Amino acid sequence: MTAPLRLGIAGLGTVGTGVVRIIQDKADLLAARCGHRIEISAVSARSRAKDRGVDLSAYAWEDDPVALARRDDVDIFVELMGGSDGPAKAATEAALAAGKDVVTANKALLAHHGQALARAAEESGRTIRFEAAVAGGIPVVKALTEGLAGNGMTRIMGVMNGTCNYILTRMQSAGLPYEEVFAEADALGFLEADPELDVGGIDAGHKLALLAATAFGAQVDFDAVELQGIGEITIEDIHAAADMGYRIKLLGVAQMTDRGLEQRMSPCLVPASSPLGQLEGGTNMVVLEGDAVEQIVLRGPGAGEGPTASAVMGDVMDLARGIRTPIFGQPAATLEKRPAAASATPAPYYLRFSLLDKPGALAKVASTLGDAGISINRMRQYGHADSSAPVLIVTHKTARSDLKSAIEAMEELGVLVGNPVALRIEDV
Ligand code: HSE
Repeated sequence: MTAPLRLGIAGLGTVGTGVVRIIQDKADLLAARCGHRIEISAVSARSRAKDRGVDLSAYAWEDDPVALARRDDVDIFVELMGGSDGPAKAATEAALAAGKDVVTANKALLAHHGQALARAAEESGRTIRFEAAVAGGIPVVKALTEGLAGNGMTRIMGVMNGTCNYILTRMQSAGLPYEEVFAEADALGFLEADPELDVGGIDAGHKLALLAATAFGAQVDFDAVELQGIGEITIEDIHAAADMGYRIKLLGVAQMTDRGLEQRMSPCLVPASSPLGQLEGGTNMVVLEGDAVEQIVLRGPGAGEGPTASAVMGDVMDLARGIRTPIFGQPAATLEKRPAAASATPAPYYLRFSLLDKPGALAKVASTLGDAGISINRMRQYGHADSSAPVLIVTHKTARSDLKSAIEAMEELGVLVGNPVALRIEDV
């Protein structure tokens, strides 16, 4: 057996504790698999006194994660603190400068500073591994950078925020409004400290930006991700989408087009019978499409102690085995700054609105859509007790800019009650 591989772990929340537990419980198995004993030299967290249910007495304690990152007895700095800047960034930079490899679960850090950190790592002859940052326990970065390395990737899609998927599927199954299910998710501890990270699509957008960079040989560009959260999805939309044979998902889509790199994280309709449509609760799903493999679907837990610690340990084991795949699948200097696609690929749209129930109202809306070059595929008007008639339209493929102009024109007709809702229907 060769020399042990020594970790310094910064952050002892759910994930950090899970990593400690795996290393303590599976020491012999890990050593047999990678040829090194995996040891923890030192740890760091906000509170030393807190009981985490694991024995930390054998490890040195550092109050300052930067000091931990620089320790001579640390080979790999495991960053599990979170946050796009502050201590996480300072300690990661310190670790790389001191010649340590970094394993991180920090999507925000890499979404904002991925290119600079990848360059810093390569200049020091080190690497950063981030499997735990994307879709929890699903080994999607490994799938992209290793198993699918022979493919030109064409499109990646994913439901990568379990909290949003929980909220949307619970609204559907219990027939409850958004606000009520949001409160439930909060009570269950599912929401990030800043819930907007979840429901605003930011957390999932970070993950999409990392996968898009890896899939398309691009510099990470989170600012180019078009973000829309789930806060405006109503129970009426959930029911109406179901009635048309769809489910609503917070879906990330990245694809290279001749107009540039398209990155979208937004509520979309997907067929109820598709793997994405059938995804329930807090589970994640990533769909990867390549020119050779065609399509593969990965499904699994996107968060939690075991799944996220599993992903961290996968990275640690790779480093222990000497597997040093470039951070985003190819050297940082070869990652291109891909222009962002200014407009989304045309798609069918779901359009829900309420009409004043008077003669000719629906005809006016239909001709407004026709004037904008938008063709109606399916339409349904529902029975109603009051003076406004709920209407659902599924369009044929249309450019979003045309749909936007048509909605603006519809709003001028004087026949709508409230604002129309338009959601993209993704071809999955
Ligand atoms: N809050 C995230 C989720 C997990 O709900 O999937 C961490 O990224």
